Amino acid sequence: MNILVVGSGGREHAIVWKIAKSRRVKKIYCAPGNPGIAQLAECVDIKADDISGLRDLAIREKIDLTIVGPEVPLTLGIVDSFEDKGLKVFGPLKKAAEIEGSKIFAKNLMQKYGIPTGGYKVFKDSREAKEYIKEHSYPLVVKADGLAAGKGVIICKTKEDALDAIKLIMEKKVFGRAGDRVIIEEFLKGEEASFLAITDGKTVIPLPPCQDHKAVFDGDRGPNTGGMGAYSPTPIITPKLKEDIMDNIMVPTIKAMGKEGRPYKGVLYAGLMITGNGPMVLEFNCRFGDPETQPIMMRLKNDLVDVLLSAVEGKLNKIKLKCDNKFALCVVMAAKGYPGGYEKGKEIKGIDDASRLNDIVVFHACTALNDSKLVTAGGRVLGVTAMGVGVKRAINKAYEAVSRIKWEGVHYRKDIGEKAIR
Ligand code: AMP
Ligand code: GLY
Repeated sequence: MNILVVGSGGREHAIVWKIAKSRRVKKIYCAPGNPGIAQLAECVDIKADDISGLRDLAIREKIDLTIVGPEVPLTLGIVDSFEDKGLKVFGPLKKAAEIEGSKIFAKNLMQKYGIPTGGYKVFKDSREAKEYIKEHSYPLVVKADGLAAGKGVIICKTKEDALDAIKLIMEKKVFGRAGDRVIIEEFLKGEEASFLAITDGKTVIPLPPCQDHKAVFDGDRGPNTGGMGAYSPTPIITPKLKEDIMDNIMVPTIKAMGKEGRPYKGVLYAGLMITGNGPMVLEFNCRFGDPETQPIMMRLKNDLVDVLLSAVEGKLNKIKLKCDNKFALCVVMAAKGYPGGYEKGKEIKGIDDASRLNDIVVFHACTALNDSKLVTAGGRVLGVTAMGVGVKRAINKAYEAVSRIKWEGVHYRKDIGEKAIR
């Protein structure tokens, strides 16, 4: 088979790495890809949101299956566009991707179908929003409705914070049209977990639960990022809790989408808060998580193409997932300053040395080649991922590999995985 992976981050590198092990694959393409992916696939310089360009590529290269990494092409309708041409593609249709594309749509769906989530109110007028927060107790959460690259959520400790958040989103429009409407939401206390499942719209198969680390600094301090590290399994999701999440969140959500005339296929990713009152949904994503996919792919024993193709063909009931019992842990190495401003073009050294360690894969998230030198090209640069028997060994191994990689101004969290020990 010829496979096309759309995207260019650590998530896509992990997907390509896993697909490269498939016995069914003849050739892998990735658009646009990155220098790490280029070691396993032919990278084609087409942007992930250039839907007609990607579709032409899929037709030209006789692609048998396309896997879409990021949310933007999904919410723009890449799956609709490919299916119109009879192309097989893993991911939800545009109207199903709205579960991530509009937080208000997702919240209303959850409320209608009794899926556990925090209380909320929707505003399209900033004056009314400002009026509402005067009466509210704190903390509370202000969210832009649309896509904002993970930055559209502001936790407000005081009324002043909330006023600023509303001004920023609705008046200054820092997230553009994504801020036309906001949600003001109850603040939920607990521990977060990422719960991903693959579905063909009928069968829902959970992937191994993960723990992400959103904040930029150790001890969950500092601003939120796309994710500074992830591990799987996460002890917070016990087998009983996993069943509860499947029965009360994942399966009812897929059924609800069907009832709403938005049948869902692809990955459904629930960002959960495990509260004293059980798991509650913070948000849904219509795609694989980044960096969660890196540890998941390292643990998955199935041929990924079998699994994803079965989902596309509506035959997921034939699949049984098998996972390695070992612990997998990804440490994101980022540029100094991320998630704010940061410098690019710093030469990266030591990846070969780190990759020589057993059970280590260094996934590229945002790198580039400059005169045949590998340099940093974004905020999250690498995802160093290790497997080990037990969490402590995985942590030690991952940080041993991290210590071999250097560039000027590198930043990474030193405490990825520590929650699993506690
Ligand atoms: P989201 O993009 O909605 O997942 O929000 C990003 C991050 O903001 C989450 O991973 C949480 O850390 C935090 N967050 C979002 N909603 C809430 C909430 N209702 N209560 C507490 N924290 C939240
Ligand atoms: N790691 C968070 C996300 O993929 O949205």
